[in-house]
Amino acid sequence: MVLSLFFGGIITAIPVVTGVAEGVSHQNKQNAEAAELAKRMIKFHLDVFCDAKPSVRDKVHGMTVVLKNDGLYLAPKDDAGNPLPTANDNGKATHPFMGFYIDYPDPELHPDTRGLVSTISLDPPMLNWIYMDKETQELKYGNRTQSREHIVGPWDWTSDEPGSGLTLDEWEGFVAVEEVNEKGKLTGEWTMYYDHYDNGLKGKVEGRRTLECRLERRICADEMQLEQNQVNVKTRGNIGVVDQSVRK
Ligand SMILES: *[C@@H]1O[C@H](CO)[C@@H](O)[C@H](O)[C@H]1NC(C)=O
Repeated sequence: MVLSLFFGGIITAIPVVTGVAEGVSHQNKQNAEAAELAKRMIKFHLDVFCDAKPSVRDKVHGMTVVLKNDGLYLAPKDDAGNPLPTANDNGKATHPFMGFYIDYPDPELHPDTRGLVSTISLDPPMLNWIYMDKETQELKYGNRTQSREHIVGPWDWTSDEPGSGLTLDEWEGFVAVEEVNEKGKLTGEWTMYYDHYDNGLKGKVEGRRTLECRLERRICADEMQLEQNQVNVKTRGNIGVVDQSVRK
């Protein structure tokens, strides 16, 4: 089976298969690189850990991240870790965050930046970039055109596996913020922001409740993992196509 995953304007090729060895150390280096790449491409969900007082944190702690309305929202989850629909979904399906790391394909604007992608739908399978909106500091998802002017990485994870935490620019500065609608009324939902300037989101979320959170990586079930034999990324105009060969 071949899954085609659609990106906005991907321009690099990422071969995971090691080439012909030119020497032992070269081969070892390639093996290490292939192992590193395979590790980065393990898919994970994001669960919220908040260590504020129980009475304060109950709207965010233990939630999981879902994608909707261009943003990263929090939803309660069932025993299997799948997100339950929230009251404000209005019948619209939310898609659980299911992401992995891949270099951001824009060497001019973002040299060697480790990007983060998530599926935004499984049928058809589609991927989007996760980024921080540089105006609002919200975490969002979008194609390359939408994301490239914003903070698209470097994304990473802390070394305390399992349950390692997502990082952006080498720290876990994530903040859950209570959402308001256009009329300034609370919707009861929470979305994720990133405290890029370490100033408590000054000037961005005045009058709204905020809670610092850790976003813990929860590795997706085996059947959700693609076998990452090769990922070929081509460009078709401004629309990139990722072919992930799945051997199952
Ligand atoms: C990127 O997404 C926007 C908004 O959905 C859309 O208008 C635009 O056509 C997309 N660009 C590409 C290259 O797919």
